[in-house]
Amino acid sequence: MRAASVSDYRELARRRLPKIFFEYIDGGSYAEETLRRNVSDLQAIALRQRVLRDMSSLDMSVETLGQTLSMPVGLAPVGMAGMYARRGEVQASRAATAAGVPFCLSTVGVCSVEEVAKGSVAPWFQLYMLKDRGYMKDLLRRAKDLGCPVLVFTVDLPTPGARYRDVRSGFTGSSGITGALNQAWDGITHPAWMWDVWAHGRPHSLGSVAGALAQQGTQGRRVTDFLSWIARNFDRSVTWKDLDWVRQHWDGPIVLKGVLDVEDAREAVRCGAAGLVVSNHGGRQLDGVRSSISALPRIAEAVGGDLEIYMDGGVRSGLDVLKALSLGAKACFVGRPWAWALGAGGETAVAQMLATLRSELAVAMILTGCTDLNAAGRELLDLD
Ligand SMILES: Cc1cc2nc3c(=O)[nH]c(=O)nc-3n(C[C@H](O)[C@H](O)[C@H](O)COP(=O)(O)O)c2cc1C
Repeated sequence: MRAASVSDYRELARRRLPKIFFEYIDGGSYAEETLRRNVSDLQAIALRQRVLRDMSSLDMSVETLGQTLSMPVGLAPVGMAGMYARRGEVQASRAATAAGVPFCLSTVGVCSVEEVAKGSVAPWFQLYMLKDRGYMKDLLRRAKDLGCPVLVFTVDLPTPGARYRDVRSGFTGSSGITGALNQAWDGITHPAWMWDVWAHGRPHSLGSVAGALAQQGTQGRRVTDFLSWIARNFDRSVTWKDLDWVRQHWDGPIVLKGVLDVEDAREAVRCGAAGLVVSNHGGRQLDGVRSSISALPRIAEAVGGDLEIYMDGGVRSGLDVLKALSLGAKACFVGRPWAWALGAGGETAVAQMLATLRSELAVAMILTGCTDLNAAGRELLDLD
């Protein structure tokens, strides 16, 4: 099967990846209401068709936080991408860099921030706050010294939401000989993945925080080791005051990821954040909360003039990107789309997925009469 749309990579990834990883990428928390809403609320928005305008030249680039993006799309932080393709974070970063868009590396990537910077370019760096502040301080210094331009501080995961699919697939909670045998069978029955990732993609640690894992004696032989380590080490006591602490150790722009409420958005401005990502973690945390796209307009109205507003959650086409921009986003991030593409075909597939988003966005601009994305607004939507 050749992928025509972004969602086609989902099916290709389903075929190639062991079930535990496909379900981990694909799933959301609890009944997955928010995951569905993210997609369906975007689909329900109507674009406004306009005709007979001179659409011979288009400006798809945007400026943000001192960078020029070739289009208003970025790769959201996705944990453990090196389990979906060999050294997956480096491959995805290369595809993003070639496309002129940012790659944001997760704290819990398989490849370390050093490996991504060396194999591609210094990525935007995503931070989860761990209890060990000494380690955090050191990690921020490493990212800064490598030249990471933006720190994305994820604030919607003080504790992981329950994901039923991960329990059913044996990704979480399975142990002992049965769990090990199931995981082995899952690998053996996906030989292309076995060859690429299991045989040639090691080490399978969480590169940037491997030192912290080792300190606690977690060898990281099994992915479930990582997950229990995450549960033990993420700091639930973090408050707005801790942003001051982060700023003491990071002098570049800080973007807060996981804001869905207007009051929190105002607080982000008061704390001096350079940007925020309107996000519910792709429906993977508190199920039942509103979709990102439905939260976006009120947040953009309240604080749009004060900091950069990005959104993620449910973006599956270039048309969705234009809808989000029309409602106040500066750029969108995609999570599952690039994880699916990476699992389906590595760097090449991520590059193709980004090319698909770009051409869809261009078509949407032409047919709505939008020549410059910087001027995109509600006039591009049919809101009646
Ligand atoms: C498999 C997977 C792993 C993720 N890991 C992280 C992570 O490590 N850090 C983070 O801030 N967000 C993480 N996210 C959330 C994404 O950054 C993003 O908010 C979400 O995927 C956007 O929704 P979408 O998948 O519908 O595009 C993850 C999402 C997925 C699907």
